[in-house]
Amino acid sequence: MLNAKVSELLNQQINKELYSAYLYLDFSNYFSEKGLDGFANWYMIQAQEERDHAMLFYKYLQNNNEKVTLEAIAKPDKSLDSDMAVLKAGLEHEEYVTSLINDIYAAAYDVKDFRTMQFLDWFVKEQGEEETNANDLISKMELFGSDPKGLYMLNSELGARIYSAPSLVL
Ligand code: FEO
Repeated sequence: MLNAKVSELLNQQINKELYSAYLYLDFSNYFSEKGLDGFANWYMIQAQEERDHAMLFYKYLQNNNEKVTLEAIAKPDKSLDSDMAVLKAGLEHEEYVTSLINDIYAAAYDVKDFRTMQFLDWFVKEQGEEETNANDLISKMELFGSDPKGLYMLNSELGARIYSAPSLVL
């Protein structure tokens, strides 16, 4: 049995990760409509990764005989006014998700739930990578995005991203 608060936060995180997937699908759709298929690919893979994250929380709860409760997923709510606005919304969202992971970690720490802390270690590292990726994307866009050739090259680079399953297996 997990601590009730830890269990509740882990359960909420399933919803947050599925919302993240939904948000990135919205980003992917935004870039598809603009004809920037590389950016669309990058965010489509991002959406797949978020679904994987949700499933890891789902399985972790089930493996610990905890009840899983699935709630409604909110509508993507970021205003997609420009390419840069989308990229910045992505970074802002990842920073928010990092704060959620930290909150669960703190709750687990409070009750000496070392198993959950160990499970979350993977997510702590993953969030560092996600924030770095989001920051890199903004930097590249600032450097090259205003030039059509630069944007074309960046779009091609992002189009080469390939999905790979998470390294954490439960
Ligand atoms: Fe599941 Fe992008 O954090």
